[in-house]
Amino acid sequence: MTKILKTIEELQDFVRNIKKSGNSVGFVPTMGALHEGHLTLARTALKNCDACIVSIFVNPKQFAPHEDFDRYPRMMDKDTALLRTIGVDAVFAPDVETMYPIGYQTTVTVGEVSKPLEGEFRPTHFAGVATVVARLLLLVGADKAFFGEKDYQQLQVITQMATDLAIPTKIVGVPIVREESGLALSSRNAYLSGQEKKIADQLNVVLFAMADELKAGTDIAHIEKNAAQKLLDLGFDSIDYCTIRDAKTLMPPTAETKARRILAAVKLGKTRLIDNIAAN
Ligand code: PAF
Repeated sequence: MTKILKTIEELQDFVRNIKKSGNSVGFVPTMGALHEGHLTLARTALKNCDACIVSIFVNPKQFAPHEDFDRYPRMMDKDTALLRTIGVDAVFAPDVETMYPIGYQTTVTVGEVSKPLEGEFRPTHFAGVATVVARLLLLVGADKAFFGEKDYQQLQVITQMATDLAIPTKIVGVPIVREESGLALSSRNAYLSGQEKKIADQLNVVLFAMADELKAGTDIAHIEKNAAQKLLDLGFDSIDYCTIRDAKTLMPPTAETKARRILAAVKLGKTRLIDNIAAN
């Protein structure tokens, strides 16, 4: 039985009952329009914890005025049916007034790690994410919360925020789920036309080729320049970034860099796609 919880009181009663019997709680925050990537997060939570709560809330604070808040897909009935099939214990689906009651004033901003990449192109985005995630983590009080590596910088921002604010929930990153073509699953893939989808399928191919070149010792600036040209030749309309970074700071790699990450954000028609892979 998957419970639908709308209010903070319902949520906290539910969590209290689970914890009373000594059981652990796993939490998966989402904005709905669920796909296999989200279901993998929920399955991972179910495997690692005794109970799993998934939140569905399209957070207005993380969309800039020109972004896709209004057209972001909303499919509550389909989403809850999917979560029921995998045995999720509860769905927390608050309305905007519950998450941001009248008089709400606080914004959480995370420092350096939110500034590059997405931070340059979506300057208000991570404050919106950190604010809603901090509030959700504190409301739920889960033992562990699960986030996809698809939004790799988001995962680093949330990990930093949870550490800095001493939020006791452990933040767990879960690898990207890809289609057979390698395209990273995303709720925004639903916007792509048939022709755009074929082009989008090539994004991951370009990133994996960059990883191969990096391994072969090719100069980073050269790899990045070539990749950007390749993406434009394939039909992507523009490239916000396609770059090799320190996997933790997300700044250009330095002598101290322990692991590297290749990250890209590209535009295809009206759709903005992001992807990333680990690199040696
Ligand atoms: O990754 C998302 O879907 C959102 O950014 C999140 C973490 C649910 C916060 O609204």
